Amino acid sequence: VKTIGVLTSGGDAPGMNAAIRAVVRTALAAGLKVKGIRRGYNGLLEEDIIDMDSRSVSDIIQKGGTILYTARCLEFVKPEVQDYGAEICRKHGIDGLVVIGGDGSFKGAQALARRGINTVGIPGTIDLDISCTDYTIGFDTAVNTAMETIDKVRDTSTSHERCSVIEVMGRKAGYIALWCGIANGAEDILISERYDYDEQKIINSIIEKRKKGKKHYIIVNAEGVGDSNGMAKRIEAATGMETRATIIGHAQRGGSPTARDRVYASMMGAKAVDLLVAGASNRVVGYRDGKFVDYDIEEGLAMKKDVDQYMYELSIRLSK
Ligand code: F6P
Repeated sequence: VKTIGVLTSGGDAPGMNAAIRAVVRTALAAGLKVKGIRRGYNGLLEEDIIDMDSRSVSDIIQKGGTILYTARCLEFVKPEVQDYGAEICRKHGIDGLVVIGGDGSFKGAQALARRGINTVGIPGTIDLDISCTDYTIGFDTAVNTAMETIDKVRDTSTSHERCSVIEVMGRKAGYIALWCGIANGAEDILISERYDYDEQKIINSIIEKRKKGKKHYIIVNAEGVGDSNGMAKRIEAATGMETRATIIGHAQRGGSPTARDRVYASMMGAKAVDLLVAGASNRVVGYRDGKFVDYDIEEGLAMKKDVDQYMYELSIRLSK
């Protein structure tokens, strides 16, 4: 490869800038040119493409968001649009492309690889819902943000002897909820992977734990399980315990990345470029069993993963 393009796609995640920085500087060190494609595949189709040098990525490693902007490009699933995307890459001399995003973004990379553009995907999402990897860029920061927020809600919840239903992000995945459930010592964790949401059970448990002297009751609810506001109203009506819902929302997607997100994103960015330099294509970088690895995108997308059962059971045991 002679020129590497880099784009971020899908929901942004803290640490994406560290990955972009590593891609740019590793590629420059290997004697390649680098082009930044702004606003994901949308920007590719609109040729929103900029030249990048070492200074383009100065002072970004500590910043949340993505300096390249991002978007969800729904039309990139169409073969004729993918043909056009490959044509634009060729027009700009981009023969290697690093795509930082989630599963949907990797499908776009796969389509471009089939059209002769060498591509490598890097998992970037706060949701941790990419099967071929134990780590995704942004998850660590998002969990820490949610954890700190839940600690704060817990203070006021205790003072008022209230129940709090706190909704965290994760789309259909419960990883953020599970981690916060343990890190915040929640009384209940609701995640769709272990969906046995029985409101009556929660209500009974609140009544029982109050009798045992618990001053507050924290329920961490993974978005996708149910409406937290409705839940709070019903719980209050049935238990007599004042209940409030807090939806943490997009705060989880922002903020300065943790050390882990900065370092792992840097490792992944560098690995993606190393793969392209070695002539690889249609690969996705992952982190498995303590090592940075890579898989064929097809193979990576076909993998399955589930929340750790031991962690889930532990969260229940520790909430008694
Ligand atoms: O995939 C990241 C994520 O933040 C999910 O946790 C959430 O469901 C979704 O994106 C929100 O998307 P948007 O920013 O488009 O509202």
